[in-house]
Amino acid sequence: MPIGVFDSGIGGLTVAREIMRQMPNEKIVYFGDTARVPYGSKSRETVARYSRQIVRFLLERKVKAIAIACNTASAYALPEIERECPVPVIGVIRPGARTACECTKNGRIGVIATRATVSSGSYTEFIHQIMPGAQVFAQACPLLVPLVEEGLWEDPVTDEITRRYLASLLHHGIDTLIMGCTHYPLIRKTIGRAAGETISLINPAYETAMELRSMLADLNLLSDHRPALGQGVPQYRFYVSDMAEQFQQFANSIIKYGILASEKIDIHTYSSAPLSKEEKG
Ligand code: DGL
Repeated sequence: MPIGVFDSGIGGLTVAREIMRQMPNEKIVYFGDTARVPYGSKSRETVARYSRQIVRFLLERKVKAIAIACNTASAYALPEIERECPVPVIGVIRPGARTACECTKNGRIGVIATRATVSSGSYTEFIHQIMPGAQVFAQACPLLVPLVEEGLWEDPVTDEITRRYLASLLHHGIDTLIMGCTHYPLIRKTIGRAAGETISLINPAYETAMELRSMLADLNLLSDHRPALGQGVPQYRFYVSDMAEQFQQFANSIIKYGILASEKIDIHTYSSAPLSKEEKG
């Protein structure tokens, strides 16, 4: 059975890529909500509704676990989904917070994320659970997701905007910076240039894949053999809510495994109501 991974668009591919690297035996079903991206400027209710529709779609595809490869959806919908979902669910925020706490020397941690993730306060909350004395400085960067989705990964405009967003954080003397949106690792070089060499950049994708691996191992759900390719069951399947062809091109530039196809799904036809007892089995 595959692992379900979802995001508002292409950002979650940075998490899927890490799952592929760390767990080459696993199959993946990826959903990118390209018709409704960005999530970061939407309300908690809307993001929770979208997330439930996607979870229903993934459950229909018989996934054995779900990785919410989106900080915004993790911040706004993880608790409900964890509670309602019949399969184990993991988000990206807790693993990112843990890595930052392990990494910081001066206890001053910066977070860049969408407006929604910043206003949820989730990173600050998790960091304080682990390191009560830490000081957390969060900065919303609403222009970065559209720039990434537009493919402006190495562009003077992205450099300039990133520098402006980081200026206030750098003022606070942070030594660690969490890339709290799964789109941001795609402009890691730009963020690194703006932050400077002395600041450690945290990509929660790596730690999320590690945590997922140990969760699956504990539940005896890890696959111990590599799925046979070329027998009609591609190991990785990609679905989107719009612009399947454009997504596929993007995905192929991020993931080096040759994405054969991505299929468009009418995600609005899936119910956004809480998962019922029957669905939970
Ligand atoms: N990539 C997502 C995140 O990690 C969401 C970006 C967006 O849709 O605004 O927050």
